[in-house]
Amino acid sequence: MSPVKPLRLAVVGFGRVGQVCAELISLSHDLSLAAIVRRAASAGGKLPETLRSIPVTTHIGQARDVDVALLCVPTNAVMETAYQILQHGIPIVDCATLHGEALHAHKNAIHKVALHHRAQAIVGAGWDPGALSVFRSWFALLTPGGSTETRHHTGISLRHTTMARSMVGVKDALCAEVRATDGRLQRYVYVELEQGADADRITQAVRADPLFLRENTQVFPVESLAELEQEGRGVVLDRRGPPGRFGHHHLLLEARLDDAVLTAQVMVAAARALPQLNPGAYVLTEIPLSAMWGEKAEKAQQDWL
Ligand SMILES: NC(=O)c1ccc[n+]([C@@H]2O[C@H](COP(=O)([O-])OP(=O)(O)OC[C@H]3O[C@@H](n4cnc5c(N)ncnc54)[C@H](OP(=O)(O)O)[C@@H]3O)[C@@H](O)[C@H]2O)c1
Repeated sequence: MSPVKPLRLAVVGFGRVGQVCAELISLSHDLSLAAIVRRAASAGGKLPETLRSIPVTTHIGQARDVDVALLCVPTNAVMETAYQILQHGIPIVDCATLHGEALHAHKNAIHKVALHHRAQAIVGAGWDPGALSVFRSWFALLTPGGSTETRHHTGISLRHTTMARSMVGVKDALCAEVRATDGRLQRYVYVELEQGADADRITQAVRADPLFLRENTQVFPVESLAELEQEGRGVVLDRRGPPGRFGHHHLLLEARLDDAVLTAQVMVAAARALPQLNPGAYVLTEIPLSAMWGEKAEKAQQDWL
């Protein structure tokens, strides 16, 4: 069997999201980066070393053999950019930050253009809207009549912990106090380890220390504490089912994240699903999850079902 041809993607707009998309595509085996499309004012800008061989254009029409364009431009420029690209019959994925009625209207407008040019489009395919919308929808589907609360926070405040830091094998450590939804205080200890250090031994030692023993303490070995400190965003999705004869269900998702990175992951996954769709516009909840796994669909089914 001949190998499947990689899907050729163009990244349009090389800001936070666009840069991560380009990096993810260049690291993947089943996708290739056909072009980076930038405004004329930035087209001469330097690209990271790993992307130097990628053609930079100022118009999608100058890029060759593009199967899908990822629109990583500001939300107020998405419609016009989408229109220009769909006119070439090139399918698009956007991650416009629109919700509810506004996203619905955006999808309808793109749908008309996409149908006219017989191309596919996935809109609002980021973290929120996007993956978080899918979680929200699942939570609601599981507990009809319940109520959902979404709380955003600006990450956790981290402080140094001398105790963990002084352990053999620990380069540095940060500690955070996190209030669980039931009000209890939890301690998260993030440790950056020396090369070859035994993560399990250190985890146990931290938890057994008198300072943490009486607390609900979780230990997370991380590659870089500096990077962790940069991560600024967090969200708690809290769904409570209605009281009644089906029991009291409480579903909770807590995430600490870099929204640009997760948005890029969703956009790239959505691009893999596009060839299987009929012309028109879709939101993420309308896309089969297995299609977004691309060539890894079968393995994902074995691993996660
Ligand atoms: N759904 C989600 O969860 C989520 C999360 C994060 C971001 N987003 C959305 O993702 C998009 C990109 O966000 P970002 O954080 O990467 O923004 P950003 O860092 O500001 O990058 C946007 C890029 O678009 C290009 N651009 C700027 N103004 C433009 C204009 N008027 N017309 C066309 N292109 C323009 C520029 O790239 P060049 O200089 O290369 O032309 C700029 O670097 C936004 O629509 C944002 O709302 C969604």
